[in-house]
Amino acid sequence: MKDILVTLGANGALSSYVNAFSNSNDQVVAFEPMFPMYIDHGEFSGGNIKGIPLALDASGIWQFDPAVLRAELSKPETKVFIFNTPHNPTGKVFTVAEMQAISDILDDCPHVLTISDEVYDFLTFDGLTHTPFATVGNNWNRTISVYSGGKLMNATGWKIGWAIGPAKLIRNGAIVANSNYYCFNTPGQVAMANSLEACFAPNYNDAGETFAQSTSTMFVQNRDSITQALTDMALPWKPVLVQGGYFLMADVTECRSLIPEKYFQTHDYEPEDDRPPVGKNRLNMPDGRIPLDLAFCRWMAIEKGVTMMPNSFFYPNKSPTITDQYVRLAICKDRQSTEGALDRLRNALN
Ligand SMILES: Cc1ncc(COP(=O)(O)O)c(C=O)c1O
Repeated sequence: MKDILVTLGANGALSSYVNAFSNSNDQVVAFEPMFPMYIDHGEFSGGNIKGIPLALDASGIWQFDPAVLRAELSKPETKVFIFNTPHNPTGKVFTVAEMQAISDILDDCPHVLTISDEVYDFLTFDGLTHTPFATVGNNWNRTISVYSGGKLMNATGWKIGWAIGPAKLIRNGAIVANSNYYCFNTPGQVAMANSLEACFAPNYNDAGETFAQSTSTMFVQNRDSITQALTDMALPWKPVLVQGGYFLMADVTECRSLIPEKYFQTHDYEPEDDRPPVGKNRLNMPDGRIPLDLAFCRWMAIEKGVTMMPNSFFYPNKSPTITDQYVRLAICKDRQSTEGALDRLRNALN
């Protein structure tokens, strides 16, 4: 089989194909905010990472400007386009019409390889369905599709992924993967292969769902209870609609005045007890200030015992379109952990 490569997690596939197809001074394009490993892989290959902004429209759907995407993909230095649906961190599920529009642009950009990151393919909510990008328009011949056994089994530490595409493209990433880690361990591959069918076998639970469906049902319950709880809380944050994946974004703009000022003054704030200092990600906004979402997340982690991710970490270095108004919460934990975190958040202003 020459059209599949088993990799060290989906991330091993991303790393292999970004590095196989882009070099120094090339450009890698992805929608932003973006999974931060895209940035790391692009930088490691010596390239420039260009984010195409996703922005919320009035109905709460993340949208992009096709003209901006076309302008960047058309540049001769753009060698790789990383596409991701369901999207981390926004939870957007791209429609077939959007994918067709992207495919039409790519028809005019034969110098670009697409890596379609579909690790959350089984997690589309509210009746939405996942369509593999490679099946739209003329995409198959220019697309490497990436999947994750760890995400599928809701056991992310397993780190077994796979890439699917035309043999002539798969081969290039296989050469990079082979030089980096030779191959992924065989017992892990056997375990994953033996479990794949079980993931989609009926009657995993009393509701007759498959394991994959039962995971999706639990995430929707988490999404709905987090959305309701955030809406009802005195803390004035606003949950954003999630269509799929592991995460939920919330707009914290109106929380600015509630966050203790010390979190805005320096990255080096430490709790006034005996806890050792921790390594800090010293991200600043283009005007030098500490991002609002980072200050919010530090406040919540240090004082309220709930950890979230600042959205501003999902942008390439010096992105002119970086935003710091959102935080990302996980909807992928079990119900009990999720409700425990919500209880702590309900008391956040006490
Ligand atoms: C969008 C996206 N792609 C890839 C990965 C990596 O998957 P894996 O754990 O299989 O390496 C993640 C993990 O968080 C992710 O969110």
